[in-house]
Amino acid sequence: IPVDPFDYVVFGGTGDLAERKLLPALYHRQIAGQLTEPTRIIGASRSEMDTEAYRNFASEALAKHLKPGEFDDKEVGDFLKRLQYVSVDANSDRGWDKLGKVLEGGENCIRAFYLAVAPSLFGDICEQIAKHALVNAQTRVVVEKPIGRDLASAHELNDTIGRVFDEEQIFRIDHYLGKETVQNLMALRFANALYEPLWNSAHVDHVQITVAEEVGLEGRAGYYDKAGALRDMVQNHMMQLLCLVAMEAPPSMDAEAVRDEKLKVLRALSPIDQNNAEKLTVRGQYRAGASAGGAVKGYLDELGDKTSNTETFVAIKAEILNWRWAGVPFYLRTGKRLGQRVSEIVIAFKPIPHSIFDQSAGRVIANQLVIRLQPDEGVRQWIMIKDPGPGGMRLRHVPLDMSFAEAFGVRNPDAYERLLMDVVRCNQTLFMRRDEVEAAWRWIDPILKAWEETAQTSHSYTAGTSGPTQSIALIERDGRTWHESN
Ligand code: BG6
Repeated sequence: IPVDPFDYVVFGGTGDLAERKLLPALYHRQIAGQLTEPTRIIGASRSEMDTEAYRNFASEALAKHLKPGEFDDKEVGDFLKRLQYVSVDANSDRGWDKLGKVLEGGENCIRAFYLAVAPSLFGDICEQIAKHALVNAQTRVVVEKPIGRDLASAHELNDTIGRVFDEEQIFRIDHYLGKETVQNLMALRFANALYEPLWNSAHVDHVQITVAEEVGLEGRAGYYDKAGALRDMVQNHMMQLLCLVAMEAPPSMDAEAVRDEKLKVLRALSPIDQNNAEKLTVRGQYRAGASAGGAVKGYLDELGDKTSNTETFVAIKAEILNWRWAGVPFYLRTGKRLGQRVSEIVIAFKPIPHSIFDQSAGRVIANQLVIRLQPDEGVRQWIMIKDPGPGGMRLRHVPLDMSFAEAFGVRNPDAYERLLMDVVRCNQTLFMRRDEVEAAWRWIDPILKAWEETAQTSHSYTAGTSGPTQSIALIERDGRTWHESN
């Protein structure tokens, strides 16, 4: 669907996010025919360079990050023509008039400012945008995590941005919400009559949400050691997934309707603090092992600091205190340097109340719905059937299997493609509202505090395994097991 022309100003235009994600995503949208004339992409950063040099930078970024066959000379040439570059200083007036000049002529155009920079610069950049009167009637601003490192700092950051922009203009990205299969969660739940009647404590035994990564620090030691897995993955991505699984049906896909429902889930989370953190949470940290096809260093070696207790793995048993979910545990786990990159949500249904089959039929295994977010996106509904053949009643546990790649065979767009264009369309459904971000921190803060005050250890796990044994114990104590994907 074509969209109106726009000007995307990317602060941090020469940075890692622009190089790896934003430029390739916008290029793909050009191929899809969504960049109508006179759409422009304006890179802005402190580096001194001219537009020609920026186009070279972008061309190299595309060559490096597109998949084989996606780099089309003609399309890339047309795409590069849309790019301009302005060198600006966030904390001085240098370059801002020039940026204003470049934006002249686009007064009636959709104008998006993407702050792909450290959050410490958000305030200065917003102020400069306001001071130099760069806000037009169709302006939005896009910010990325980390939005704070606790509730107080998130609040402050939101205030800072809020001094220049209204909430309707602020797009807080959680790139998990742009993933195809994450959006598919909403389709699965609310475009089918089948699941919703079962989607509650009467029929669901428990839910598992796993986001396992093979990667380690990826050169981000400075950031990561201060953050840890709870801040880096749980406060945002995992909690957003939990909300989409647990929320009530919103009346529509309208941004406020969806975000209102997610907010209610966040507010209903049972608190975890000094009294129960040891029992309900597990922290882990990887030591040397083998992952992603080779030997890898341990976290402390990678970091070059032998004393860090920062968690690279976390498992949590969460509970949502409302009518739909009371008594249903939500087991969350995420970690780096695990055995396999896999993100999935498992809805584990309750066992049948009574078996009519005798022992020779085999065990009746409870149904599970497994939503595979990445890689190999798909949905598997595990059911029991009779083993075919004349050998009598023997039961078998089999999946009804829907693999997206096999079923559709189309390219799976990157999350940023969807999200960048939703900013242009001014659709906030897949972006986090201020109160949501703060409600998530309100639940996370006491966990962080409990860990600090009780000095809760990060248990060591070998890189390439499925995390510390304590995380297995967390779920097995309850007579359940983590779903092992194949
Ligand atoms: C980011 C985290 O938000 O998400 C990273 O900061 C993590 O630590 C990444 O690796 C995972 O994203 P994806 O899309 O690769 O699952």
